[in-house]
Amino acid sequence: MKNTLAIIKPDAMQKGSKEDIRKDIMDNGFKIVEEKTIHMSEEQAQGFYDIHKDKPFFGELVEFMTSYKSHIMKLEKENAVSEWRNLMGATDSTKAEPGTIRAKYGTDISMNATHGSDSDENAEKEISFFF
Ligand code: CMP
Repeated sequence: MKNTLAIIKPDAMQKGSKEDIRKDIMDNGFKIVEEKTIHMSEEQAQGFYDIHKDKPFFGELVEFMTSYKSHIMKLEKENAVSEWRNLMGATDSTKAEPGTIRAKYGTDISMNATHGSDSDENAEKEISFFF
């Protein structure tokens, strides 16, 4: 069994989609091992997304992630990283495959409802960042 980090982002939290997304996660065979709702500080958002600090959208990303509460989850499943990325769909919600979480609950490339780790190595780092 492998783990990945999932975040239900402020846009989806504000829309009241948290329980629908948690249900989608569990219906797709993931176990939610740990979870908590937090309102990210600017320091946390900047630290978590440090790999994007030189990207033009970094300021917008930090502003978005600190705008409201997020729900952070440690998920467990065989091939958790790729399974969760498949369930989320493409980063840009307007291009995400129908039925995926980002297609159902997100808006665009910035407000895309959820985050997922992109490798086992980053999953470990991201899980220990929040838990
Ligand atoms: P996430 O999977 O959390 O990883 C980085 C985040 O940056 C991404 O989801 C989006 O929310 C955001 N992002 C990525 N590309 C862009 C972009 N071109 N413009 C604005 N936000 C972006």
